[in-house]
Amino acid sequence: MRALAWVDGEVLPVERARLPLLDRGVLYGDGVFEVVRTYGGRPFALDEHLARLERSASRIGIALPATAADIDAVVERLLREAGAGDAYVRIIVTRGEGPIGYDPSAARDPRLVVLVAPLPPLPAGLHENGAEVRLVPCSRPTDEARAAGAKVSDYLANLLALAEARRAGAYEAVLVGPAGEVLEGASSNVFVVDEQGRLRTPPTSARILAGITRAHVLEVARAARLVVEQRVLFPPDLYGAREAFITSTLREVVPVVRVDGWTVGDGRPGPVTRALLAALRERIAAAVRRERTRSMGVH
Ligand code: PDD
Repeated sequence: MRALAWVDGEVLPVERARLPLLDRGVLYGDGVFEVVRTYGGRPFALDEHLARLERSASRIGIALPATAADIDAVVERLLREAGAGDAYVRIIVTRGEGPIGYDPSAARDPRLVVLVAPLPPLPAGLHENGAEVRLVPCSRPTDEARAAGAKVSDYLANLLALAEARRAGAYEAVLVGPAGEVLEGASSNVFVVDEQGRLRTPPTSARILAGITRAHVLEVARAARLVVEQRVLFPPDLYGAREAFITSTLREVVPVVRVDGWTVGDGRPGPVTRALLAALRERIAAAVRRERTRSMGVH
């Protein structure tokens, strides 16, 4: 599969794609984005991702320069031209170009950029053996009201937190907010199964991304009659959990078996975590089958 980009209506190999230097996405990270993945060549939950893209853009005052149908068509074109294989799809909308200066109102013509690339490989055994996470205090642009909940392009705080976790030998950083509350991963949502078997995850408040995988996991958990609570978590909720896991588009459900070196449960992926991963994968496969049937026009 080739890595291709769509920029200003042109399809190019990613390594040859260019953005104008005065694009505010380049100058200031002034934009929003989504990451979608395909299964068997079909994007999963693209409509949900595009709806969140629109919410993120409007949250920071950017009008999407294309309709969901237009963006869908660009994604389909890139996937067709990129060739077979499971793909990583990044959809970016910047505030566009403008004179150098911070005032967003000076920017014109928000810019859509789409890229597809082979799905990046995950560490071997990640789902089977689980991963270690490290709690990292962190504050981000989306912590304050104006950008609350938006998936903004500026991920510097997330990246630096992940670098700190990786230096400590952990796979993912779990961000801790100013009041000591557990927020989410650098690029994932966080869940625990407590000693009473209840599934808990932080509420989608101003401080975390309303993950699409998180939403699907909550639905399969409810279908499995689990007790599900969206409530603020603190580090002892992770340290003392029977099970813990993280969720994201690219990683689905990854068991967490160590937090800051402390073993979670018996140090192996728990039964609830494994059951939720299996149920999520069934749900995804069914959705992709339905979408493939729809796109072939077979009813
Ligand atoms: N985003 N929280 C943050 C900060 C994220 O960046 C992501 C993942 C998630 C999980 O959201 P979702 O289930 O919709 O993927 C939560 C993509 C994968 C990324 O940044 O690569």
